[in-house]
Amino acid sequence: MVQKKLPLFIKFIVIAILFVGNGFAYSQSEGLKTNIVNGANFLDTQGNVINAHGGGILKVDGFYYWIGENRHDDVLVSCYRSADLVHWEFRGNLLTRSSNPELANANIERPKVIYNETTKQFVMWMHYELSRDYSYARAAVAYSSNIEKPFTYLKSFRPFGNMSRDCTLYKDEDGTAYFLSAARENYDMMLYKLTDDYLDTKEQLATLWPGGHREAPALVKRGEYYFLMTSGCTGWAPNQAKYAYSKSISGPWSELQDIGNTTTFDTQSTFILPIEGNKTTSYLYIGDRWDGKQYFNSKNIFLPLTFQNDTEMELNWVGTLLPNILTGELLTP
Ligand code: GAL
Repeated sequence: MVQKKLPLFIKFIVIAILFVGNGFAYSQSEGLKTNIVNGANFLDTQGNVINAHGGGILKVDGFYYWIGENRHDDVLVSCYRSADLVHWEFRGNLLTRSSNPELANANIERPKVIYNETTKQFVMWMHYELSRDYSYARAAVAYSSNIEKPFTYLKSFRPFGNMSRDCTLYKDEDGTAYFLSAARENYDMMLYKLTDDYLDTKEQLATLWPGGHREAPALVKRGEYYFLMTSGCTGWAPNQAKYAYSKSISGPWSELQDIGNTTTFDTQSTFILPIEGNKTTSYLYIGDRWDGKQYFNSKNIFLPLTFQNDTEMELNWVGTLLPNILTGELLTP
């Protein structure tokens, strides 16, 4: 009897796994979902709202790790992981106010993490403020040998003496890493090359669009071109995103061009994730839909970035999204 029933049971398990593989996202307002629902709260697998704002995603050993701002209690940076970019499991807090005396009263924004193959360490760069007035304008660095475990806080500083606010990290194909951050009261976007251990800036490479007043940088490479997306500077309020492209990261970069609608669909850029599959490579835009009055009411929005040709990038609104990490496709069910 048991032997006869077993195949049916196995079939059920296989179907269940396939469903999970296709991804269920949980939305607080609408219950169980089969895909990402933009505009709803993204919940983790325990049903809690995901706190990973201003964050980024990196792939490690088959899992996508989403690391970003968490302002609850004494937490500063949290880590979630997912096998399908839809179900996110909370894995731990990477930085808290007690990680280091310098963090006790700090405001940490836009943390990004990359892996250093030589030192075998995950390195985090972020925007550091001592209080809410944004006058400290520093970069800060932390590291850990385990992406899910607390990071060791190293220091905060102004790269080459420059102010440093909204920022991102980029690790190139050859292992060289770069830090981009808004300097001179956000008028200039600076590009720095990092030292081989990624723990410091080695060289000030370029000032991108001097006086351009850009922030929220997100950088990706596709084919022969780097694409850099940024927002204007209107605090928590959304504005028209722009992008530029270049064959060399240090430039010359193209003129800035509009992308998305005039409010970037009520979001501000934080990261672009390439999803490399066996059929195609897609590019996932991760934006923050900030609520400046009630920070914890802020949302994340995941949208597909598409390309008309080698240099034309487009961002369009989709209400629902289903990444297929095997084929690399971003489906819009
Ligand atoms: C935005 C910035 C956010 C946060 C906010 C505070 O311009 O991108 O990360 O700093 O200002 O007003």
